[in-house]
Amino acid sequence: MTDTDVTRTEIDPERLKMFSFGVFSQLSGAVTAGMIHLGDKLGLYAALAGLDRPATTAELAEAAGLQERWVREWAHNQAAAQIINVDTTVTPELFSLSPEAVAVLASPDNVAFGVGMFHRFPQTMAALGEMPESFRTGLGHDYDTHGCEGAIGIEKSFEPWMRHHLLDTVLSGLDGVIERLERGVSVIDIGCGAGGAVLLMAKRFPNSTFVGYDISERALERAAERLAESEVSNARFANPRDESMPTDGSCDLVTTFDCIHDMTRPQEMMHSIRKAIADDGTWLLVDIKGRDTFAENVEKNPMASLMYGISVLSCMSSALSEPNGAGLGTLGLPASKAEEMSSTAGFSQFRKMDIDHSVNNFYEIRV
Ligand SMILES: C[S@@+](CC[C@H](N)C(=O)[O-])C[C@H]1O[C@@H](n2cnc3c(N)ncnc32)[C@H](O)[C@@H]1O
Repeated sequence: MTDTDVTRTEIDPERLKMFSFGVFSQLSGAVTAGMIHLGDKLGLYAALAGLDRPATTAELAEAAGLQERWVREWAHNQAAAQIINVDTTVTPELFSLSPEAVAVLASPDNVAFGVGMFHRFPQTMAALGEMPESFRTGLGHDYDTHGCEGAIGIEKSFEPWMRHHLLDTVLSGLDGVIERLERGVSVIDIGCGAGGAVLLMAKRFPNSTFVGYDISERALERAAERLAESEVSNARFANPRDESMPTDGSCDLVTTFDCIHDMTRPQEMMHSIRKAIADDGTWLLVDIKGRDTFAENVEKNPMASLMYGISVLSCMSSALSEPNGAGLGTLGLPASKAEEMSSTAGFSQFRKMDIDHSVNNFYEIRV
C-alpha cells in the first residue's frame, strides 16, 4: 500500500479506490479477529470440530448451546474471511473446518494451536483507551493492566510450542544442561508469566529446583493456581519486588522467555542475571526475532505491522511503564543488540541456537 512516488501531489482516482480498500481491509482483519475471539470463547470451533462433518448453523448452534441467528451471522463472517469452509450449493448452507483449521483453532494440544493472541484480543484492544495519554506523557502500562485474561492469553500463545519443544529441542540443544538438570541444580525463570515453562521443567526434572519471577500479580496468581493443580513440588513463584533474585551465583540455569524486550530496565536485568548465575552456568535467552533496522523487519517479517502494533499496545508500553524505561518493544532486541547488551553485563559467550521458530530466536549465553 505504500506509495513510493513521494513527488505526486494530485489525487489519482484509481489509487484512491485502492488505498481506501487497503485501509478498510485492515478494519476487516481487526473485526474478524474479534469474531475469532468469540469462536474460541463460545466453543464454536470446538463444536464444529466435534461434529466432524459439514453442519448447518442450526446444528452448530445446538451443539454449542447458542442461538442460531447469532451463530449464522458469525459463520457468515468466518466463511467470508475463509477461516471456515462453506458449501453454498445446498440449502441451508453447510459449514466445516479444514484439518488445518481444526489444528489452529480447535486443538489446544496441537503445536500449531493459535488462539492465544485472540484470547486476549479484548484486553489488548482495550489498551487503546489509555494510549492517547501514553503518547502525550511517554508513560506506558505494565502487563497487569491486561488483567487475568491477558496472562491466560500469553499462556495460550506460547505454551503449545513449548509443550512440544522446550525439553527435547531447546534444553537438549544447550551444552550439558540436561545432564545438570537431571543431577539436580537451581534454576530461575525470569518474566515467567503464567508459569508454563517452570511447570514443564519442574515436572521433567524432579531433582532440580525452580523459581519463576514475574512483576505481574495477575500472572503470578495464574501460575500459583496451576502449581496447586499440578503434582509439582520442586517449583515456586515470586515477585522480584517482594523477594530479590539470587545475587550469589547459585543458579546453574537462568531462562527468560519473550520478556527482556518488555522490561523497563533490560540492561540492569542482564546485570542481575550475571549476578544470579554460576560462573559455569547457562542463560537461555528467548526473544522475538527482530532485525537491525525497520526496513529489514518489514522485508523479512510478514507479521511486522502486527508486531509494531502489538508493541504499542503491549510490549513497548510495558517497557515504558516506568519513567525513563528503555522501551525496546516487540522487535527491539535483535541478535546484535542482545549480544552487545549481554557482553556489557559480563557474558562473553553468545550463540544463536539452530531452532526453527516463526517468531523467536534462541540464544545460549555463558560467562
Ligand atoms: C510476553 S510475557 C511472557 C511470559 C512468559 N515468559 C511466557 O513465555 O509465557 C512477558 C512477561 O514479562 C514480565 N515482566 C516484565 N518486566 C519484568 C521484570 N522487570 N521482571 C520480571 N518480569 C517482568 C511481564 O509481567 C510478563 O508476564
